[in-house]
Amino acid sequence: ETQTPTPFTVIPNRRPATDEERWIAMEDPVFGKVFTDHMARATWRDGHGWADRRIVPLAPLPLHPGAAVLHYAQQAFEGLKAYRHEDGSVWLFRPEANAARLAASCRRMALPEVSEEDFLAALEALIAADHAWVPGTPGSSLYLRPLVIATEASLLVQPAAEVDFIVTASPVGAYMAAPGGVSIWVSRGYHRANAGGTGDTKTAGNYAASMLPQAEAKAHGCQQVLFLDAREDTYVEELGGMNLVAVRADGSILTPRLTGTILPGVTRDSILTLLRDEGRAVEERDIALTELVEGIESGEILELFACGTAAVVTPIARLVSDDLDVTVRGAGEGGSVADAVLARLTDLQYGRGEDAHGWMRRV
Ligand code: COI
Repeated sequence: ETQTPTPFTVIPNRRPATDEERWIAMEDPVFGKVFTDHMARATWRDGHGWADRRIVPLAPLPLHPGAAVLHYAQQAFEGLKAYRHEDGSVWLFRPEANAARLAASCRRMALPEVSEEDFLAALEALIAADHAWVPGTPGSSLYLRPLVIATEASLLVQPAAEVDFIVTASPVGAYMAAPGGVSIWVSRGYHRANAGGTGDTKTAGNYAASMLPQAEAKAHGCQQVLFLDAREDTYVEELGGMNLVAVRADGSILTPRLTGTILPGVTRDSILTLLRDEGRAVEERDIALTELVEGIESGEILELFACGTAAVVTPIARLVSDDLDVTVRGAGEGGSVADAVLARLTDLQYGRGEDAHGWMRRV
């Protein structure tokens, strides 16, 4: 494989975790709570562009309390994973797609774009420094969290003149435990995004605003919240941090179209592609909650699942709300479409299946 020459200077961590500390930390990590020894970092200044590309020991950031990101959430982020194959090699899944989405998010948040070249070089240099942290156990991976933040100390509501690009890495297993499928709370009082807002942007505010409805979901015994569109309060959009897909009894697929208020998931796109590859009809359109519920009740819709980088493919067993409680028939059953597409996706990611679309990139 070709190795891109890295413009990222490596300043090694002089006190990395010992092998034993790392093994313990990687044994059964809670999602996003364990971090590797290093982070990638680059700094942008207005008029100078990106500079100081470096891999440095993971450490708290010295951040001015007036930093714009802390006040006005001028930031964008990404999530993608590196997978260890059986021969020990490490691979990223569609990192170019995440680079493109981060650039789009940066444009919307009036942040400087990180080029695809810098994005890939940062990931590759960080993974090279922390290769021992890429798990090899089934279902586990190294979750990479690229982040662009406005660091300038300024309370003016205007694009910051100083910005940092940071990438951290976390060994992870499953995001949600889902034996038999998760329960979903349909939020009736809260919406996630509106037209012209930042719903299709991967930025902190969308997730901050989802936490109260997400807590409401949890209080009702559900693992995730589902939002309806803000304009008509009618159509299902997405979950707190993942996309929604339905499988009909005839084998066809139904999922909300990308309206600008929904995050264009890389996993969503990959799964729809794999399902189309096997000849399934995939319909992307507005789906009323009532249509979904009636479909589930009549048996026309057999499965629902959530998909995302963190969630991968998680079957949904129940939809719950104040005036609603429906059970999805095919959830978590052997032979489900969700199981099959999860297997196909993960076979590809872990190097067990053919990569027909050239999605994997060796690092
Ligand atoms: C991801 O799937 O990568 C996300 O950013 C979503 C979040 C729920 C972890």
